[in-house]
Amino acid sequence: MFKKLALSTLTALTLSAGTALAAGGAGHVHDEQFSFEGPFGKFDQNQLQRGLQVYTEVCSSCHGLKYVPLRTLADEGGPHLPEDQVRAYSEQNFEAYDEELEDFRPAKPTDFFPESNDPNAPDLSLMAKARAGFHGPLGTGISQLVNGMGGAEYIASILTSYNGKEKEEAGTVFYGNDAFPGGWIAMAPPLYGEDVEYADGHSNDLHHEAVDVSAFLMWAAEPKMMARQRAGFVAVLFLSVLSVLLYLTNKKLWKPIKQGAKKA
Ligand code: HEC
Repeated sequence: MFKKLALSTLTALTLSAGTALAAGGAGHVHDEQFSFEGPFGKFDQNQLQRGLQVYTEVCSSCHGLKYVPLRTLADEGGPHLPEDQVRAYSEQNFEAYDEELEDFRPAKPTDFFPESNDPNAPDLSLMAKARAGFHGPLGTGISQLVNGMGGAEYIASILTSYNGKEKEEAGTVFYGNDAFPGGWIAMAPPLYGEDVEYADGHSNDLHHEAVDVSAFLMWAAEPKMMARQRAGFVAVLFLSVLSVLLYLTNKKLWKPIKQGAKKA
């Protein structure tokens, strides 16, 4: 019985893995060391500021971030820009529709980032969370568990995995990309390296730009990640201590009864 069950489970697993691969398969996502991984991880404020710059100068011409309030750029634990810089940044880069004026006016920190300009470009507010799942061998999620691989790695991989191939289908150009599921993406390579000039003089090669903007998008999607990780860590610690205490209490409670049983 057990043998039969084990066999059919194995067959089912092999079959589903087989179909996943046959369907073009998941793309290849590579690991990156991000400062926010692990129970004591933290967003790197300078990296978030550089990522914001890449988003603003390159990605925002197509992609929106409509769920992210501009004022959060001043948040501690995030990019932590001074309030006056957030105001200047909002005014200089974006416009918001004002119901009272019935017209567009320069954006204020109380507005949100705009929606996507290009209707085919998805909003990036939650992308890093939406693509967090199950990378690694056969989509088992092992890489995610062991290496902390998630949506930020996925985005960085997409940006750095163009293979130079192009094809046109029904009037749309697709670009070969080894990280994108199916291998072809309708986004032209947005980064080549040296696309932006960082204010802090940090290296602006393709890899650094990709990693910086991915970290920024991770923060955008999950600004409270640190608090959540810490809460999880405290919970695990608490449960461990509780288990030890319960074990000792249990031993103590049963001791007289066990001794009694031995005597009898
Ligand atoms: C010229 C317009 C354009 C620019 C600039 C652009 N993108 Fe895109 N992007 C697109 C389009 C269109 C898609 C949809 C592609 C598809 O579904 O095949 C897309 C898709 C994506 C996806 C989603 C992949 C998925 O899993 O669905 C991510 C992530 C992404 N872009 C990130 C970026 C980042 C980061 C930048 C800036 C460095 C950027 N894009 C710049 C047009 C653009």
